[in-house]
Amino acid sequence: MTDAHLDPLIALRPWQAPEVTSWGRLPMSAVDRRSGAVPLDGDWRFQLLPAPDAQPGEVWSSSYVPGVWTLQGTDDLPQYLNVRMPFAEFPPHVPAANPTGVYEREVDVPAEWAGRRIVLQVGAAESVLLVHVDGRPVGISKDSHLAAEFDLTPVVRPGDRATVRLTVVKWSDASHIEDQDQWWHGGITRSVLLYATDPLHLADVTVRARRGGDLLVECRVRDAGGALPEGWYVSGELDGQLLTQDAEFDRANAEDERVSGFLGEARLRAAVPGVRTWNAETPELYGLTVRLHRADGTVADTSRHRVGFRDVEIVGRDLLVNGERVFIRGVNRHDFHPLTGRTVSYDDMRADLVLLKRFGFNAIRTAHYPNDPALYDLADELGFYVVDEADIESHDHAHEIADDPRYLGAFVDRVARMVLRDKNHPSVVIWSLGNESDYGANHDAAAGWGRRHDPTRPVQYEGAAKRGWADPDLASDIACPMYAPLEECLAHALSGTQTKPLIQCEYSHAMGNSNGTLADHWAAIEATPGLQGGFIWEFWDHGILQRVNDGRPAGRGGAGLYDNGVAAPGHRWAYGGDFGETDHDGAFIADGVVFPDRTPKPVMFEHREIAAPVRIACFRHEGVVLANHQHFRGLDWLSGEWELSLADGTTRTAPAELPGLRPGETAAVPLPFELPAEGGEAWLTLRVTTAGDEPWAPRGTVVCLPQVRLRAALPSAHTRVPDGVVEVDEEGLLVHPLLTAAPVLSLWRAPTDNDELGGMAARWRDWGLEAPARKVVSVRRDPGRVAVVSEYVCAGGTVRHEQALTAMDGGLIVDESAELPEALHDVARVGTVFETVPGLNLLEWFGQGPWESYPDRAAGAPVGHHCLPVDELFTPYLRPQESGGRHGVRRFTLSAPDATGLAVRLDRPRQVSVTRHRAAGLAAVAHHDELVPRAGCVVHIDAAHRGLGTASCGPDTFASYLVAAGVHRWSWSLRVL
Ligand code: GAL
Ligand code: MG
Repeated sequence: MTDAHLDPLIALRPWQAPEVTSWGRLPMSAVDRRSGAVPLDGDWRFQLLPAPDAQPGEVWSSSYVPGVWTLQGTDDLPQYLNVRMPFAEFPPHVPAANPTGVYEREVDVPAEWAGRRIVLQVGAAESVLLVHVDGRPVGISKDSHLAAEFDLTPVVRPGDRATVRLTVVKWSDASHIEDQDQWWHGGITRSVLLYATDPLHLADVTVRARRGGDLLVECRVRDAGGALPEGWYVSGELDGQLLTQDAEFDRANAEDERVSGFLGEARLRAAVPGVRTWNAETPELYGLTVRLHRADGTVADTSRHRVGFRDVEIVGRDLLVNGERVFIRGVNRHDFHPLTGRTVSYDDMRADLVLLKRFGFNAIRTAHYPNDPALYDLADELGFYVVDEADIESHDHAHEIADDPRYLGAFVDRVARMVLRDKNHPSVVIWSLGNESDYGANHDAAAGWGRRHDPTRPVQYEGAAKRGWADPDLASDIACPMYAPLEECLAHALSGTQTKPLIQCEYSHAMGNSNGTLADHWAAIEATPGLQGGFIWEFWDHGILQRVNDGRPAGRGGAGLYDNGVAAPGHRWAYGGDFGETDHDGAFIADGVVFPDRTPKPVMFEHREIAAPVRIACFRHEGVVLANHQHFRGLDWLSGEWELSLADGTTRTAPAELPGLRPGETAAVPLPFELPAEGGEAWLTLRVTTAGDEPWAPRGTVVCLPQVRLRAALPSAHTRVPDGVVEVDEEGLLVHPLLTAAPVLSLWRAPTDNDELGGMAARWRDWGLEAPARKVVSVRRDPGRVAVVSEYVCAGGTVRHEQALTAMDGGLIVDESAELPEALHDVARVGTVFETVPGLNLLEWFGQGPWESYPDRAAGAPVGHHCLPVDELFTPYLRPQESGGRHGVRRFTLSAPDATGLAVRLDRPRQVSVTRHRAAGLAAVAHHDELVPRAGCVVHIDAAHRGLGTASCGPDTFASYLVAAGVHRWSWSLRVL
């Protein structure tokens, strides 16, 4: 190996040269070379140098490719920063201390590749890749999330063994445009492979398949030798149907004086009668094979594609897929894995997409860079609308870079390479120019290239849309804001000035216990022409599995050390700051709808219901009206079962016959049950499941649980005639054999991330709501009844609390009121908290469930009779916070295995939580593993509970979900079972 300083790839110092986007790299193409290639994944010799120009030593360790060295035992650990760069240098500069991984291995070049063109493909490397073979410089690449290919034909000999060295420099000018909100890592994150083609090869294939069945295939042909041989031609076949040569095109080409002969172009066409079109609901795919022939007819090259016939267009202010204004029920998805960082396997990607399908999502924004090619194959196959995003985010220095000509090439290169690679995927419906990089001439240049190369898809870019949702500009055909308040979206849609579809690129920030008002958003979207949906931020909580004892990432060895969203004992989900970084953005990296192990958070059930393909539109005496809320599919793929839940505790079921409804149609179906004359409140649920196996769900998978109330509860007249004894202590606190802490007033919850970042938690702290001083004003003891008046005194004001305890019907009735002064206008909750003896481990309730729900996130939790162990009620958010609540609870029992315990009835549906944790205990720790569960239960019954909102990044909850000042009254009864 040459001295590092004499090596031209090093001497060029490409890591501080934004003009150098690549050297010796082959152009990107949509021809997939994965099949038939020699995989080079596995352990490579590895050393981590302190800087790119440091001389590699004699001592090698090993590193697994694909993978990041930051999770493979080096001292260069992951660092999480949102906006700020991890170093102070301005673009294009980087620090002198610049971790550089040198990967090396021998590669046996197959002898049968003699005479062929031999290509090395590195799936992804961040952020600069330098390639050497047997010490000879081969190439340079940047653009960390797209493959780089290098022609090795001149430097390897078939039948020989070659030493391939891949040097990966962590910090570069490119890092300044890869400043996405995620962990910083270094390494080779996607597969490496070697393949061979004939010198005469398909350089690119562009497939255009329209919904009417017209297919056009444009082929670009090259020869490694330069001049194309005489007589080559292409042929194609679509599921057995032969494509025709576009003779017209060939003739025109032959006569075209501009054509010089080193680039071969050919077109194939077909018309497919009765074509089955592609859409996210029925992702019909056809198999296309394109063959490049030599003059003698032998095949020089083959390219296989899966084709989806579909149109995407913007008409007026609507984005149409096959002429339909589809709703975009999207999520932002990063490449993430708790053990391997940014390396995700095919199985991982498939599992992500399967889960999303099962929870009603139909769209993905590849935030914020192009994903592994397999993700798009899966999206084609399973049915997703994809916003494909280029790897450009210059967040920290956005304004300066957007117009910096030194970065012009990089912007165009990144967008062009993405478009070139992904243009044949029916799933890709929109190109995105990147994220959070202000808006400048570099964007317009990139948009121009993309539009010219692919006129068939809209382009979007939030940075451009930000200037004005109706502004004409080159960079965005979509008004794609992030976290725009719903009222602004509505106002725009109703303003008469809207010119572009309004689809939020990010909304409903899923950090911690969040996503309040999602159902309100969707009610407005579905009712308002001009609003078409958006992409929830985001899919993942990016917690990295970490050993608690030594603080090291568990890495690939951590397989199986987590379950149900929780890390195994001795481990935790690390977030910003956990690897000893002083500069970090904490738990802001844990903001997904799934835990780091892909366990769905409760919001997923909310989303599933909001996206329900079949809904109960209304209920009339003769029956219920069902509606098909899909865009393309009938209901024949679904089966249903009716469930009638009555307040008396009974549930009845009956098979449901789903009517044959086309999209948008409704039909009345008769009620399957005779509603009993007695029994109070009654709820009818349609349990909708898959009728057969879907590619993403086996038969019987729940799709949605639409529900309608058939009868309301009768108001119960309370006359309080005491018939027993109430025991209280000198403070007026209830003494009860099953309670270890008497019912007292609670005004606080362990702040959620939204509460913290939205500023509410600080206000509550200033007000002293966590632990106000309780002062007894009076205790009045009458036979069978004790009335206690107390004051809860805190810095924010004094809350007068009255609690009347009446012995009745073998139990107790508790009538309470709390009067909040005007100053306490927005508190977390007003209610009662008490604690029970150990052993009451099962909660049964009539109310919403079974999963966690809150006042502004309760659309997906049907009313019914639910039952769960107390330990399963709590949601293990990475940073402990208010968790485990159940909305609309009418009554519950908390029991031991021998059926002893407590029964509680509420005056009306209320927010209740039963957990092992006091609010103060939750708020005191930073990670789930630090929590010490109590043996007994902590029970909250809330007269009012604040909505969750999404204020950690975006709008807070609506005023209607706030807890107002003034008088709150609530009653409940307690009985021993
Ligand atoms: C957006 C950004 C995302 C992420 C999110 C907050 O501003 O595009 O990358 O930072 O906010 O979690
Ligand atoms: Mg950002």
